[in-house]
Amino acid sequence: MSGGHICVCYQVTEEEIVGWIRRGVTTVEGLGDHCDAGHGCGDCHEMLEELLEDFGDEAGGDVTPVVSHAQQ
Ligand code: FES
Repeated sequence: MSGGHICVCYQVTEEEIVGWIRRGVTTVEGLGDHCDAGHGCGDCHEMLEELLEDFGDEAGGDVTPVVSHAQQ
């Protein structure tokens, strides 16, 4: 089940994609920017989204939210 290519077009493995998600990538587009996954036929988008859902919660807190909090 694991170890195969999620994105066949760019030969990107699940391991690599999960690695980027754990570093704070939160969107399919973001994954494409970092490792090209999803920049081809688009067939892998559904799987990329599933991985983002499954592993996004595990991402560390080093991603700064875009929304600014005016807390004082
Ligand atoms: S399989 Fe990922 S873009 Fe084609």
